Amino acid sequence: MRMVDLIDRKKNGKELTEEEIAYFIRGYVAGEIPDYQVSALLMAVCFQGMTSRELTQLTLEMAKSGEMMDLSAIHGCKVDKHSTGGVGDKTTLVIVPIVAACGGKVAKMSGRGLGFTGGTIDKLEAIPGFATQITKRRFFEIVNQAGASVMGQSGNITPADKKLYALRDVTATVDSIPLIASSVMSKKLAAGSDAILLDVTCGSGAFMQSREQAEELAEKMVGIGTDAGKKMTALITNMDVPLGNSVGNILEVKEAIEVLRGKGPEDTREICFSFAVEMLLLSGSGSREECEEKVKDAVESGAALRKLMEIVRLQGGDDSYIQEPERFPKAAYFYEVAAQTSGYVTSMDTKQCGIVSGMLGAGRETMDSELDYTAGLYICKKTGDKVSVGETLVTLYSNSYDRILAAEPVIRSAYKITGEKPEKQPLIYKRITG
Ligand code: URA
Repeated sequence: MRMVDLIDRKKNGKELTEEEIAYFIRGYVAGEIPDYQVSALLMAVCFQGMTSRELTQLTLEMAKSGEMMDLSAIHGCKVDKHSTGGVGDKTTLVIVPIVAACGGKVAKMSGRGLGFTGGTIDKLEAIPGFATQITKRRFFEIVNQAGASVMGQSGNITPADKKLYALRDVTATVDSIPLIASSVMSKKLAAGSDAILLDVTCGSGAFMQSREQAEELAEKMVGIGTDAGKKMTALITNMDVPLGNSVGNILEVKEAIEVLRGKGPEDTREICFSFAVEMLLLSGSGSREECEEKVKDAVESGAALRKLMEIVRLQGGDDSYIQEPERFPKAAYFYEVAAQTSGYVTSMDTKQCGIVSGMLGAGRETMDSELDYTAGLYICKKTGDKVSVGETLVTLYSNSYDRILAAEPVIRSAYKITGEKPEKQPLIYKRITG
């Protein structure tokens, strides 16, 4: 078999066989097929797409390229959740303790920030002492004891995705539906849960810009998971506006704590509570009404917040920060960006908000950059809000004033303020089940 023939066949819109897909993935992971040939194949996939059969085979081959987690040491139905990426997305920090407080089991592997999107592992590591690199044995023990644990993705999971993702990032082949679907689902299948909730984001702060694209991606991923015997639900969510008010590691942890206290921004609350209900439904915890009641009780009784403290403690973190979030360090500098015109915020470039958070120090410029956990944005005015000249649109936080100065014009350009009030958009556009 020759890689050049596979590239040629895909370029001409032909379907690759199971053997060809296995040859390509195994050869690439083994270092036998060079990046330039894989780049050419990825670009051909961007233009020609993939059939359902090719997509399922690619995903399974990628999943099998490394360790397939065996979660049988954890009792009960394990439910996972994955977002295709967003800005201000702190949902995992909220829903994992809620689901565990309601009796669900969450054995979750998460990632670090990627591009303009933040990562759960970076947020958790903003809690002093919290260990995300724990052994599998400890991970299982914590899930069995507390109902949930979140660890960094182990080095052995889906090496094919790691190599392909890095290559896609530099060859303009990230935003291809089959490539995203296989990347996400290979990791989820390898992570071993029985049921998976997918948050498929769409809008200016997501990889999928339109609802049609997001629906197609969601349907493909739900199809792959269902074929692999998993219980699947996907929600198409609005990422045209950052989620909540905070973007940046400590700022987002604080917002998550507020939501677990029954407060916090309305959109974060609504999304998190809906996700928690869907995860409980997937784990067979009752009817929709019963799951909604459980989620409400877990938050109102304080059980979900206590659960977060328990998980933090079990993973070596200092839970006093959860009890008293004012103990978290604050950025050395802050800057309030004031509106220069009056009107309504008609739209926001959410990707720019994510980029600004990175510029302030909340994300990495290179693979080994040190994060400034205090850095980020507190968004006071969002799409649909009325603003007057001089009112604060957003407050920027960083330990570097130079970074704030560089970020200020970029965040300004992310706001469109006009005389017209935009129509309110739903937070969840659609639900798709397997
Ligand atoms: N998230 C992933 O895990 N992979 C992609 O390709 C895009 C978003």
